[in-house]
Amino acid sequence: MKPISDLPTGFRLIELDSVASTNDEARTLAEQGAADGTVVLAHTQTAGRARRGRQWVSEAGNLFFSLILRPECPASDATQLGFAAAVAVAETAARHLPEDVDVLCKWPNDVLVGGRKVSGMLLEAGPTGKDDNLEWLILGIGINIVSHPDETPFPATSLAGEGGSSVPPVELLALFCRRFAHWRAVWRGEGFAPLRHAWLSRAAGLGEQIEVRLETTTLSGTFEELDGHGALVLLQENGRHVKITAGDVFLPSAGS
Ligand code: BTN
Repeated sequence: MKPISDLPTGFRLIELDSVASTNDEARTLAEQGAADGTVVLAHTQTAGRARRGRQWVSEAGNLFFSLILRPECPASDATQLGFAAAVAVAETAARHLPEDVDVLCKWPNDVLVGGRKVSGMLLEAGPTGKDDNLEWLILGIGINIVSHPDETPFPATSLAGEGGSSVPPVELLALFCRRFAHWRAVWRGEGFAPLRHAWLSRAAGLGEQIEVRLETTTLSGTFEELDGHGALVLLQENGRHVKITAGDVFLPSAGS
C-alpha cells in the first residue's frame, strides 16, 4: 500500500528544504512551463509572504506550499478556485482536530479554528493568454501545524494548539490535494454554486456584524452573503448593499 503522504494522480511534488518563498519558486516554475498540479513544498521559508505585503512567519513543522494551476478560465472565475482550496484546507484541518472543534472559513480564503487563524492563502495570477484564460494561477498556502506567531493582525493558532494531532506537513498536503481535487472537479462539472454552498456552510461571521478593512478605508455592516462570483456582500447601516472583492475581514464577535 502507498504511504498516505503520496500525492494523488494529477499532482507532482517538489520538496525543498528552505526557500525565500514557495510562491516565488512556483512562479519561476510556472513561467518555465511547469504543469498544472505541480506543488512546491518547503520545510521553512526565509521570506514567506502574506496578503497585502505582510510577512508569513514560516517555522519548521508547519506546512508551506504553492500549487501551480493552469485554470483554463478567465481571471474573474479563477479566483473561485481560492474558495475550493479554502474548503479543502478546512476539511483537511478538521480531519486532524477533535470532532467538537469548529473549523470555519473567513472571507476570502482564511481558515479559522476556535475563532483564530490556522491557515492563510496568497493567490497570484499570471498573464492572460489564449481565449482570455489565465496562463497560470498560484495558490500559496500556509497551515500552522505545530506553532503560530503571536503578533498578527488577526489572532492566530495552530492545529496542535487546538488539540490536534502533530501530523507531518507532507501528509497534510496529501490530504489537502485529495480534497482540492474533489472540489475542483465539482467546480468544473457544476460551476460555483455547490462550492459556494460548501463555503457558506462554514462561513465565519455570516449574518453578523463585521468590519472589512480595505486599502484606504474600513467598512462595517452585516455579512449578508457571498455572491455568485465570490464577492462578499455587506449590508451597511444606511441600507446599502456593498460588494467587496478584496479586503481583510474582522469579526468583533471573535474579539479580533
Ligand atoms: C495570508 O494569510 O495573508 C496569506 C498567507 C500565505 C502564506 C503562504 S505560505 C506558502 C506560500 N508562500 C508564501 O510566501 N506565502 C504562501
